[in-house]
Amino acid sequence: MNVLLVAGARPNFMKIASIVDAIHAHNQRSSARIDYTLVHTGQHYDEKMSQSFFRDLGIPTPGVDLGVGSGSHAAQTAEIMKRFEPVMIKEQPDVVLVVGDVNSTIACTLVASKLEYPDGNASGRRRPLLAHVEAGLRSGDRTMPEEINRILTDALSDLHFTTEPSAQEHLVREGVAKTRIHFVGNTMVDTLLKHRRHADQSEVLGRLGLLKHAGDQDDRAFNAASAGSGKARAYAVVTLHRPSNVDNPEVFREILDALSVVGTHLPIIFPVHPRTQTRIQTFGLGNTIDFAALDSGTPAGRSGIRCVEPLGYLEFLCLTANARLVLTDSGGIQEETTVLGVPCVTLRDNTERPVTMTHGTNVLVGTKKAGIIDGALKKLHHRESHRIPEGWDGRAGDRIIDILTQQTV
Ligand code: UD1
Repeated sequence: MNVLLVAGARPNFMKIASIVDAIHAHNQRSSARIDYTLVHTGQHYDEKMSQSFFRDLGIPTPGVDLGVGSGSHAAQTAEIMKRFEPVMIKEQPDVVLVVGDVNSTIACTLVASKLEYPDGNASGRRRPLLAHVEAGLRSGDRTMPEEINRILTDALSDLHFTTEPSAQEHLVREGVAKTRIHFVGNTMVDTLLKHRRHADQSEVLGRLGLLKHAGDQDDRAFNAASAGSGKARAYAVVTLHRPSNVDNPEVFREILDALSVVGTHLPIIFPVHPRTQTRIQTFGLGNTIDFAALDSGTPAGRSGIRCVEPLGYLEFLCLTANARLVLTDSGGIQEETTVLGVPCVTLRDNTERPVTMTHGTNVLVGTKKAGIIDGALKKLHHRESHRIPEGWDGRAGDRIIDILTQQTV
């Protein structure tokens, strides 16, 4: 079997890493070899948004790099499609596997779903089987570009690999046959569990001045509700990059005001996404927060919020795992905090990952100042129990590869 794997943006890389590992494991135990070509669309291209993830996760260098770069949704999606089609025509894979909900996901899905191999490929297939990993998630909010990408990708896919029970309900409601839906667990969690120990050796806590020293006063209030290993001082981590939160100056300012208040309770580390960095400059919000070099050794500046460049996978995992609290608008981080047992406050009105609330540590607080402060302080002072969702056990990638091998024989 010949599989073409698509990755384009930061959250894709953790999911693809698990699939690549599972293919290698399969090839070691089976004579029915799986060949794969990894295609990087180049949607994310900065060292800190892309290459560092390949290094940290040991993902092989992509066989094909489309190098599309940034652009409007239409321009980026169209450019990926134009550059992906010749790759499909040349490779003629048996399976195209896409992950997540970014523009690269829908662009490659559109190309693959319309393509035919007029003379059949090496296995005699006339068209590729299209597999979507992380299918069926729905926020119900069509103003999110990712929601459009999810709906369309699922409408066109042949195989739907799901991470949580809500996904099957959505897919069935949208007319997908149950036989095409496979609950496999969470590939991002595979990667987290694989690298959890290694990440703990990261020096990021020391570089940010977050290690506890002998004689440090115990943060009793937070320890009552603490996660983490106990080796770090109490701190929170913030990530923000949703256009709905950072592209509107009023919304963004209100969020930063709320974070400044939370920052009076404990220092906040804020690795800033490139989109968000640009908005901070454009909207003149730089005086609310302090940008500092990663190794300047002070946990936070005047406002209690310390901004740093985007972190690599292992550094960010270490930072999150040892945090007392995470405030985020990311989908993947809601899942990672659920597995790590770290309280998570999501600065959105909806989530496409409800299992992180029913089982995990996640709460939705919206984007208003009072709600964010209230949600953050409640999470800081009340310990809650949490459960690991079913199938988030490190074996999702293996299950996907097992199903693919059965489907293509
Ligand atoms: C994209 C995904 C989003 C995902 C996020 C993770 C879509 C629609 N959105 O959003 O679902 O959660 O990635 O990060 O696919 N930029 C750089 N360097 C890079 C990449 C981007 O500077 O390596 C800057 C560019 O100015 C670009 C902006 O960030 O215009 C936004 O990048 P883009 O990929 O369009 O969307 P994200 O906001 O990253």
